[in-house]
Amino acid sequence: MPFSFLKNIEGYNELFSGFYISRKLNFDKKDILEKIELIKNKDTLGVNLSNAGGYQTQPYLCQYPEFSDLKKSIELLFNEATGRKIVVTEMWANVNPKGTYNNKHDHSGTTQEMFSMFSGVLYIKVPKGESGSLMFYNPFSENIAYTYDPLEDDILFFPNYMAHSVTPNFTDEERVSIAFNGDLL
Ligand SMILES: [Fe+2]
Repeated sequence: MPFSFLKNIEGYNELFSGFYISRKLNFDKKDILEKIELIKNKDTLGVNLSNAGGYQTQPYLCQYPEFSDLKKSIELLFNEATGRKIVVTEMWANVNPKGTYNNKHDHSGTTQEMFSMFSGVLYIKVPKGESGSLMFYNPFSENIAYTYDPLEDDILFFPNYMAHSVTPNFTDEERVSIAFNGDLL
């Protein structure tokens, strides 16, 4: 099985379904990092949504021919793991240097078919040390949160309605990730 359930987050087994994690996505890391750098140099402002500092691209990377292989790999991996077909509808890159973080948010309402949506994140570059933990919030109790410390090459799928945030990057290097939303077919 390419996926295991996200068992290392205490409570998820009992509380939530729809969380998948894998480290087996096939992608060319150097190539993806170069492409993100090119976009960053062209569109220097990017977008400012949940990010407090750092750089975020427009959410249309899945429409760029140079990211079509990555989009297909993500869709294929999900299909192999779950037997369900998905289509990635939005995809964006995040570059987070020291001191930057993401405020609490969720990904619902970004397409019309929000109830069939999933979200995910692929960690391209994760500096050693405290480079940012992903926090998920219990939808039934705002005071309960679960922490996930990502490793490089992790790809994580989660339900789009799950609120989450990212703690500050305390290292001297950038953390780079690609986030995405999609629909189940
Ligand atoms: Fe997010």
